[in-house]
Amino acid sequence: MDRSRLAKQLKLLIDMKVVLSFFLVLTSAVIISSCYYDKEDLLYGINNNCTDTSSVVSYSQKVVPILQQYCYNCHTGSFPSGNQLMGTYAADKAMAQNGKLYGTINHSPGFSPMPKGMAKLNSCQINTVKKWIDGGMLNN
Ligand code: HEC
Repeated sequence: MDRSRLAKQLKLLIDMKVVLSFFLVLTSAVIISSCYYDKEDLLYGINNNCTDTSSVVSYSQKVVPILQQYCYNCHTGSFPSGNQLMGTYAADKAMAQNGKLYGTINHSPGFSPMPKGMAKLNSCQINTVKKWIDGGMLNN
């Protein structure tokens, strides 16, 4: 085997290595990113009201459905858990005003993490509630 043929074969080998490692990086990137999304679905559930980008959050249409799904079970009626009443505009607003609504769903230090015994709400849901609070807790 002469030198130039050897050099050619070497070059071919190196080229293949470059192509291979490129694909390796590409596939692992795809796998890692898909894992990430899978996990997020698992952790945070499917139901997030997060396609809405409007600046004003509607209490009745956006906030109540979240609280209804995750909070009202325990925090309505004559003996609400932890003596924390929710489920009416006045009650939800009061909880927002004293900081407990955001503090508990955001798992802020000093608050009991809510919803109790369940996964944390996803960031979209938390942001929706926060937007409503920051927007003045309108009864809209
Ligand atoms: C499975 C029942 C259950 C669910 C669901 C639930 N809570 Fe609670 N919550 C409790 C109990 C029990 C307590 C009292 C014990 C404690 O503080 O952990 C409590 C306490 C609280 C407190 C007072 C905690 C503090 O740090 O002062 C707030 C505020 C609250 N919940 C808000 C919420 C909100 C908002 C949701 C929905 C995102 C929610 N809870 C969902 C059972 C629940």
